[in-house]
Amino acid sequence: MEQRSLERVVSQRALQIGSSYPCQICVLAFLSGVCLTSLFLVGLPISTFTSSTTLISHCNVKQDKLERWFGDKRPLSLLYSSWSNQSSNEGKSKAPHLENCKLSAQTNERLDTRLVNHTFPPWKGHFSSTPQGAYPPWIKGSDEENYPLTRKVQRDIWLHQHPLNCSDGNVKFLIADWERIPGFGIGAQIAGMSGLLAIAIIQKRILVTSYYNRADHNGCKGSSRSSWSCYFLPETSPECRDRAFQIMKQKEAWEKGIITIKENYTSKEIWSGRTPRSWGKPWSYLQPTTDINGSLIAYHRKMDRRWWRAQAVRYLMRFQTEYTCNLLNHARHAAFGWEAAQMVLESQFTDFPEGVEKAAAKHDIESFVWSSHKPWSPRPMLSMHVRMGDKACEMIVVGFKEYMHLAERIRKHFPNLKSIWLSTEMQEVIDQSRLYPHWTFYYTNVTRQTGNMTMATYEASLGRETSTNYPLVNFLLASEADFFVGALGSTWCFLIDGMRNTGGKVMSGYLSVNKDRFW
Ligand SMILES: *[C@@H]1O[C@H](CO)[C@@H](O)[C@H](O)[C@H]1NC(C)=O
Ligand SMILES: *[C@@H]1O[C@H](CO)[C@@H](O)[C@H](O)[C@H]1NC(C)=O
Ligand SMILES: *[C@@H]1O[C@H](CO)[C@@H](O)[C@H](O)[C@H]1NC(C)=O
Ligand SMILES: *[C@@H]1O[C@H](CO)[C@@H](O)[C@H](O)[C@H]1NC(C)=O
Ligand SMILES: *[C@@H]1O[C@H](CO)[C@@H](O)[C@H](O)[C@H]1NC(C)=O
Ligand SMILES: *[C@@H]1O[C@H](CO)[C@@H](O)[C@H](O)[C@H]1NC(C)=O
Ligand SMILES: *[C@@H]1O[C@H](CO)[C@@H](O)[C@H](O)[C@H]1NC(C)=O
Repeated sequence: MEQRSLERVVSQRALQIGSSYPCQICVLAFLSGVCLTSLFLVGLPISTFTSSTTLISHCNVKQDKLERWFGDKRPLSLLYSSWSNQSSNEGKSKAPHLENCKLSAQTNERLDTRLVNHTFPPWKGHFSSTPQGAYPPWIKGSDEENYPLTRKVQRDIWLHQHPLNCSDGNVKFLIADWERIPGFGIGAQIAGMSGLLAIAIIQKRILVTSYYNRADHNGCKGSSRSSWSCYFLPETSPECRDRAFQIMKQKEAWEKGIITIKENYTSKEIWSGRTPRSWGKPWSYLQPTTDINGSLIAYHRKMDRRWWRAQAVRYLMRFQTEYTCNLLNHARHAAFGWEAAQMVLESQFTDFPEGVEKAAAKHDIESFVWSSHKPWSPRPMLSMHVRMGDKACEMIVVGFKEYMHLAERIRKHFPNLKSIWLSTEMQEVIDQSRLYPHWTFYYTNVTRQTGNMTMATYEASLGRETSTNYPLVNFLLASEADFFVGALGSTWCFLIDGMRNTGGKVMSGYLSVNKDRFW
């Protein structure tokens, strides 16, 4: 929205409350619930007000005036900052955009652990109690909204990776470190691991992942340090991991071929090896939903790899840890927190004029039915990953304008779409987004690449923790957005495509500015 039209909707009186410019913005936001991000983009030079928290704190002196004016006992900024403290998220006013991470981590762990003597963990497949009806709870959407056989394949991979008795002498293992060559991005590491998972399935070995350099930082505590399990529940059960690392020390296990490691396989086998055939060839009947340069792509080379990588990345990321959940909460709060607070206040004005206390009473439906709903975010949301940087060596680099062109195409068909989650490492792209004031852009607050800095230098400048957490959060938000625009030529977007195609988003389609270099 234009700054001017915003001002028109706000009465002169409101503007008088705050005399300084930031305070006027504060009042504007209070009244209209407009995302502050969009205000920054349209009205203000970004560098002047990077922090919305600071912005509101400028206004604290005026807080009592705001309260009197709106007759509200708990004004917006108080509500917002009470949510900022993660540990107080269980307070009286539930934050719709925040997840109870402790609780979901417990639930995830339960859903990833087999009950004694049971074939499956307590999965509730489709109100059926037969094992055939037990479907993995991490798959969302109908079967028509996912790649063919997704539910079955995910269940089978889980069973493969969680044998009933790992101490059984017949169980074999493939123990693999994550790639750690400096040029390898997170996407390439995951793609490499997908290849190893395929080998493990074909050779009937349990895949056990080992050192993960990107989790080698202080955010990952205890045994999760340097391990995938810092971010997602591990690929196999604790018993199998322990067993694998234990027999790794035995010479006999190597001689008998019970243990293999990454170095037992050529990079060709890992990167372009066979896709498991135990489920037939489901990639041969994928519904075409990818648009490149205005045409739907029905067939391309390596469709089997596309299908498999989607299954593998979905399996590896099936359950987030409490740490990852908190990272997402943090990102959502920074981006949507003000809107959420506004919404909550508005809902309380209308429904509970006699006070908020009644609203706080908890009923069974909240605990047993609504509790599993995903946290709120503004929808419909289009996620856009714009990668330029030093990707040039791998693919044709495309300008932001082309991405926006695709966004406009989607909006033409879905005119209620106006929000974009912009994920990019280029400051230049953030700056250019100001040229599109009829869109609301959201993005993470992170230092971005400027000039011709290489990706490796840039990542090093962020430090390991930020350079892993920031892209990962964007990756997960992109997987859940309603629409996606990206560049299939980058491994990263290729994997986001995979997550979406196994996360109930097939029918949103995928608009790509270019194609995979192997197609
Ligand atoms: C944005 O990041 C900078 C640097 O990390 C930090 O100083 C600032 O407080 C952050 N702003 C917000 C709104 O989180
Ligand atoms: C967050 O909540 C905890 C526990 O309620 C409290 O001890 C802490 O001081 C709070 N932190 C902030 C920044 O409000
Ligand atoms: C599990 O199965 C074994 C063998 O069938 C049986 O001996 C054992 O009692 C069972 N354990 C439980 C907790 O049901
Ligand atoms: C698992 O297999 C080992 C070796 O065959 C056996 O000693 C152990 O009792 C089995 N454990 C269970 C729970 O069946
Ligand atoms: C794997 O490699 C090791 C040496 O690194 C070798 O001793 C072992 O026989 C190999 N295993 C297989 C199954 O090829
Ligand atoms: C896109 O399509 C146009 C015409 O349909 C064609 O001229 C152009 O070469 C295509 N571009 C790419 C990158 O395929
Ligand atoms: C990066 O840009 C600077 C000047 O803008 C130039 O001196 C330098 O050679 C460039 N480096 C690379 C790797 O292109």
